[in-house]
Amino acid sequence: MSPPPPTAAGLPATPPAPAPHLLSDPPSDPGRDPGSEPHAVRLTGLGKSFARPGSAETPVLEGIDLTVPAGGFTCLIGASGCGKSTLLHLIAGLAEPSTGTVEVAGGHAALMFQEAALFPWLSAGRNIELALRLRGLRGRAERRAEAERLLTLVRLDGAHSRPVHELSGGMRQRVALARALAQQSSVLLMDEPFAALDAITRDVLHEELVRLWEQTGCAVVFVTHNVREAVRLGREVVLLSSRPGRIAGRWTVPVPQPRRIEDAEVAGLAAKITERLREEISRHGRA
Ligand SMILES: Nc1ncnc2c1ncn2[C@@H]1O[C@H](COP(=O)(O)OP(=O)(O)O)[C@@H](O)[C@H]1O
Ligand SMILES: [Mg+2]
Repeated sequence: MSPPPPTAAGLPATPPAPAPHLLSDPPSDPGRDPGSEPHAVRLTGLGKSFARPGSAETPVLEGIDLTVPAGGFTCLIGASGCGKSTLLHLIAGLAEPSTGTVEVAGGHAALMFQEAALFPWLSAGRNIELALRLRGLRGRAERRAEAERLLTLVRLDGAHSRPVHELSGGMRQRVALARALAQQSSVLLMDEPFAALDAITRDVLHEELVRLWEQTGCAVVFVTHNVREAVRLGREVVLLSSRPGRIAGRWTVPVPQPRRIEDAEVAGLAAKITERLREEISRHGRA
């Protein structure tokens, strides 16, 4: 069972039950795609090419067929430059596909980057209030109360008036997460959001992210080049090849949350996926 969809307040009335049938799925094949289940994101025949000055269009992504179920958690991995960010931008509607289609439940997805990208002249709370205003929340008092609720949700109680430059990197990413949740999208796209943080902060934020994912019921598409992180977090890990980026492997992670990055099962599956990633990189290196 997938976590229930968010309520008007962005949270389900009751915490979602775990999804044992999904957690115990056998490793999936590259071609598998559950077309009938409710989806958060559905990509069909998706391709993207970029024109370079003086040369023909270069295909960056080609033939991507991928479904992220409602309430799913899919981690995308692949070598640097293989098109992971481009794929997220296509899902977010920041770029137009060259071929194929993108369907996003609810019509829009929230996007979070490696850099928190907060407005430095606004306080933590005001950054969130801005997103609430863009969402159409009219009343000032209502925006303030909702920003405080979201800050509490990411465990930054009382930080509403803190200037952004006073916050640590981990705290800034918490504010960025609260701002993404303020959009009430049923899909949260994350582009290497913890890559610049130290290992301990990252470990804490992994726990927080899984807790928020379970509480809100939103689907997450999480890009990382860290295979362990992908297996620590995702229900599914998708490997992209390079030039052009195609789906080169998919694995369901058969380990229930809460997981830890040092768990033997996490390490074992990560080693297997890393082996495939190495093959991809060396194949590409010889090409
Ligand atoms: N707007 C753009 N114009 C031209 N080329 C681009 C553009 N955006 C990305 N690319 C190219 O697409 C490829 C994939 O980039 P990207 O999606 O950022 O990779 P990743 O996130 O996997 O590191 C790179 O070769 C990059 O140079
Ligand atoms: Mg990238």
